[in-house]
Amino acid sequence: MRVAMIGTGYVGLVSGACFSEFGHNVVCVDKDEAKIAGLHEGKMPIYEPGLEGLVESNVNAGRLTFTGDLEGAIKDADAVFIAVGTPSRRGDGHADLSYVYAAAEEIARAMNGYTVVVTKSTVPVGTGREVERIIRETRPDADFDVVSNPEFLREGSAIEDFMRPDRVVIGTSSERAQEVMRNLYRPLYLIETPIVFTSRQSSELIKYAANTFLATKITFINEIADLCEQVDANVHDVARGIGLDGRIGRKFLHAGPGYGGSCFPKDTRALVSTAQDAGSPLKIVETVVALNEERKRKMADRVIVAAGGDLKNKTVAVLGLTFKPNTDDMRESPSLDIVPALQEAGATVRAFDPEGMDEAKKLLNDVVWCDGAYDTMEDAHVLVIITEWNEFRALDLKRVKSLMKTPVMVDLRNVYRPEDMIDEGFDYHSIGRPTGNVGPA
Ligand SMILES: NC(=O)c1ccc[n+]([C@@H]2O[C@H](COP(=O)([O-])OP(=O)(O)OC[C@H]3O[C@@H](n4cnc5c(N)ncnc54)[C@H](O)[C@@H]3O)[C@@H](O)[C@H]2O)c1
Repeated sequence: MRVAMIGTGYVGLVSGACFSEFGHNVVCVDKDEAKIAGLHEGKMPIYEPGLEGLVESNVNAGRLTFTGDLEGAIKDADAVFIAVGTPSRRGDGHADLSYVYAAAEEIARAMNGYTVVVTKSTVPVGTGREVERIIRETRPDADFDVVSNPEFLREGSAIEDFMRPDRVVIGTSSERAQEVMRNLYRPLYLIETPIVFTSRQSSELIKYAANTFLATKITFINEIADLCEQVDANVHDVARGIGLDGRIGRKFLHAGPGYGGSCFPKDTRALVSTAQDAGSPLKIVETVVALNEERKRKMADRVIVAAGGDLKNKTVAVLGLTFKPNTDDMRESPSLDIVPALQEAGATVRAFDPEGMDEAKKLLNDVVWCDGAYDTMEDAHVLVIITEWNEFRALDLKRVKSLMKTPVMVDLRNVYRPEDMIDEGFDYHSIGRPTGNVGPA
């Protein structure tokens, strides 16, 4: 099948590369000329494990191409995916759909013959109807269907998630469009992936309900972690103890500095706005949004406490800036709240991230950018782990201690074991575990 992917970002590029791996002929379109020029030279615009090799092999096989020419890409396509951004609209939390609607208009003008237009972007319930209206208005003669097919991949394991998803959700009432979608995802039928066919509205809502549920689970365990600290319990044990219950499940029960990233914050806010407009407010999600914002801000206070109540003229070493490991994505990362709060409290911040430094430099000011983990620690009074990259999991603690001015660590991801840290002579602070404040040995 011939596929056009509009938007060549985290979702569009991965989806396009994976569809070409399935054997389809894919052209990825982006209006960002630098992105397309880079891709022509084999340069990935994002960091995603395994992506470069997948793109290279499919480009070499002639199944995957890149272009800025939307019209040329669309005119022969059987399916056109909209994978453009849907960021938060300033002020009201709604999803900004201007990119989606602009893409719909452009697609309408270029369409030729029966075309399935698929929204892969995360869009509020009712958007498919509006996309259909825009296309119909722009091209009354067009033969098309608009399908919702939300994407559930996670940055950092995006290719595996796309190739072996827990499920695929397809929202359409058109049998003709269903057939096209079945053909597109045929390789997944072979591995018995559940395919959920439903209405367009239900499909649109499934994506938001999934993300808000996961954000709620994280926020729940974060609150339980705070309680653990007050009652001398261990959040790891509590999470394991409840997660082994099949009705609850073990995933997304890791306490930390609050969720961030390109999806959860904006999607929770957007669903809250949708629900309010529909006269059916989601009070749980409203609370989750507020608690998470507060939590990210409060993380700096933990560092201040660990430093003895004051950060003036002190140096804080920060490890990890991206919202999670194995991505370069800095969107709404907790570090964007924590680092400025540390600076405001008087600290000099020295920081390192394995893949996120280029993005971080655009978003954070007055940081001393370092060349590696150990470089950050020189003469630091406190070391803070914000993102649990693998290379921060097995630091040489003796070396860390020798580099730092005072051996104080605030581990916001619970990477280390409190016992080990005490043995090594650290004043170690983590989330929701006893011995959170053990004092220097
Ligand atoms: N990032 C994720 O992990 C993830 C996961 C699931 C779903 N989603 C959803 O997928 C959508 C895309 O997210 P993303 O992270 O890939 O965004 P992104 O910002 O990385 O990529 C979007 C791309 O679309 C391009 N674009 C915008 N308008 C265009 C147009 N008219 N023509 C051509 N290109 C255009 C932009 O230049 C950009 O390169 C969002 O709705 C997001 O919520 C994201």
